[in-house]
Amino acid sequence: MEKKKFYITTPIYYPSDKLHIGHTYCTVATDAMARYKRLTGCDVMFLTGTDEHGQKIENKADEAGVTPKEFLDRIVEGEKGVLDLWKLMNISNDRFIRTTDGYHCEAIQKIFRKMYDNGDIYKGAYKGKYCTPCESFWTESQLVNGKCPDCGREVHDAEEEAYFFRLGKYADRVRDLLENTDFLQPKSRVNEMVNNFIKPGLDDLCVSRTSFKWGIPVDFDPGHVVYVWVDALFNYVTALGFMNDRYHDYEKYWPADVHFVGKEIVRFHSIIWPAMLMSMDMPLPKHVFGHGWLIMDGGKMSKSKGNVVDPYVLAEKFGVDALRFFLLRTFPFGSDGNFSNELLINTINNDLANDLGNIVSRTVAMVEKYFGSTLPTERKEKDCDKELTDLAVSLRAKYEDDMENFRFQKALEDIFTVIDRANKFIDENTPWTLAKDEANRARLATVMYDLLETIRICAVLLTPFMPDTAEKIFERIGANDECKTWDSAEKWGVLPADSTVVKGDALFPRIDAEKAIEELNAIQAEQKKNAADSAVETEPLSEENVDFDTFCKSDMRAVKIKACEAVKKSDKLLKFTLDDGSGTDRIILSGIRKHYEPEQLIGKTAVAILNLPPRKMMGIPSCGMLISAVHKVNGEEKLNLLLVDDSIPAGAKLC
Ligand code: MSP
Repeated sequence: MEKKKFYITTPIYYPSDKLHIGHTYCTVATDAMARYKRLTGCDVMFLTGTDEHGQKIENKADEAGVTPKEFLDRIVEGEKGVLDLWKLMNISNDRFIRTTDGYHCEAIQKIFRKMYDNGDIYKGAYKGKYCTPCESFWTESQLVNGKCPDCGREVHDAEEEAYFFRLGKYADRVRDLLENTDFLQPKSRVNEMVNNFIKPGLDDLCVSRTSFKWGIPVDFDPGHVVYVWVDALFNYVTALGFMNDRYHDYEKYWPADVHFVGKEIVRFHSIIWPAMLMSMDMPLPKHVFGHGWLIMDGGKMSKSKGNVVDPYVLAEKFGVDALRFFLLRTFPFGSDGNFSNELLINTINNDLANDLGNIVSRTVAMVEKYFGSTLPTERKEKDCDKELTDLAVSLRAKYEDDMENFRFQKALEDIFTVIDRANKFIDENTPWTLAKDEANRARLATVMYDLLETIRICAVLLTPFMPDTAEKIFERIGANDECKTWDSAEKWGVLPADSTVVKGDALFPRIDAEKAIEELNAIQAEQKKNAADSAVETEPLSEENVDFDTFCKSDMRAVKIKACEAVKKSDKLLKFTLDDGSGTDRIILSGIRKHYEPEQLIGKTAVAILNLPPRKMMGIPSCGMLISAVHKVNGEEKLNLLLVDDSIPAGAKLC
């Protein structure tokens, strides 16, 4: 029989910010889903990759003094790069796309041309607000307090010749898709999209840029590059071979069964993406699931805020499976979740060390102790354990319903209800008492088998979440391949009756919470400090030229500060008495009082423009202007008076 196809994707990572636990969350969830579908017998295609074009990448590469491609190669393929992290996290993607791959770029050019030819892309002029970090144009009405609605940062006026996609043309069809089908999940995201974006009217979308180069050129108008979101969204089909010869799986896997995406990019996936597919006359993906964010210190993680949590640090300290488990066990997939070190460690200690680790190690140790590791085949009174055995065999149905609906947290909760019950089953049956009397041998063997079989069923269903741990458990309880299958997870009695157990180290050693939290807090505090140091903003460079002759008219000189005092009744002004080399003292007032104590500056050599017309401030004439350097740190203005080497004599001209 032909296997059922299942195509699942993660958003392709934009490598301009540090890869953090938030990105890992989404990719681990997709991996668990892909593994689950493979377990159930599907033919799965799991795609992930990197989204590599756009102005932000061009800027970052410039800052690093390398070409964009060099910059990207390091982040994607370099040590502790994207590929390394996915390998470490045991991500089982079948394909990895980089949007700079030649086959993708060529396909995007063809796609763009097709929408141009069918009249859905046309040339116009763009005027609007642009958020550089998000690569997004916004209308005035979409701004929140005048700032980018996605990231909250400054936007600026932008105008350029551009191509537009007739998004408005598809508004009704997209609205129908959102409101009358289960395309977008969870359902709560539908209102948000319809009320915030569709009802106010969908403007046509600007889909090309001329202000930077790092993008896929529009082949019939090479001054333009394709808007990064058009380039990125179509990765889902180019990676299957759509309009290229690199792959040949488009017919087989498209339409996708589900795109997992973070909530801030639901708009792109549930409005723009279907509209473009409609324009291309292509089938639509079956579902888009908008998951919540992992929040840290009340906000979305970002390197500039210094609140990113490094998955490498956590995986190294606690193990990959513990981290994978924590991410999906703790937070409902559709909602935001507050990440904290305490929560992480408590979850590992409670669920993994205490409950799961304990049931496996206790059971294996008892089979070893009471039966020399191999269970005898005689059994007795099986029916009295019905509650546990029924619970275990009915688990798969509940779990399946949860997984099919992307309720990972609930699926794990169901498994742990059974594990919890099994731990209690040990206490109720007190095997150590049974073991005292040889007459109880058959009953003791039954209790042990029930435990091993319950553990086996749980391990099968844990496989998508913790593949390595599940394998270790199978080994310890003596499970063969037949015992690891989806079918076997709803059957009782699959484990061989004379199973031989193997003892091993603790699956999840208990973590010393206080010590671990202290260590993690220290690492994160250091990160914050580094981020604060680097959260420096400077004014954008002026785009207006000053002609050279005008510039040369400014008489800039080194001046010695002979005296400096605060101006009475002013909380801003300092009065400077300066030696400008002319032999006559010069008075300049400067509004820098909040940055300096007057005494600090006496004797220093500063720089002033001397030939400005005198200006009275608080009744005192000021003859010139002292020069300072200004910047912002975390939004707060910082000012430094420009001081130069004291060996420079008063009156030396700056040119
Ligand atoms: N490049 C786009 C996606 C294009 S898909 C055609 C992009 N990239 S991203 O690197 O910024 O984000 C990748 C994914 O990580 C997104 O789904 C985003 O929501 C997710 N996350 C980033 N930070 C996150 C959290 N703190 N928590 C959960 N997910 C978050 O968007």
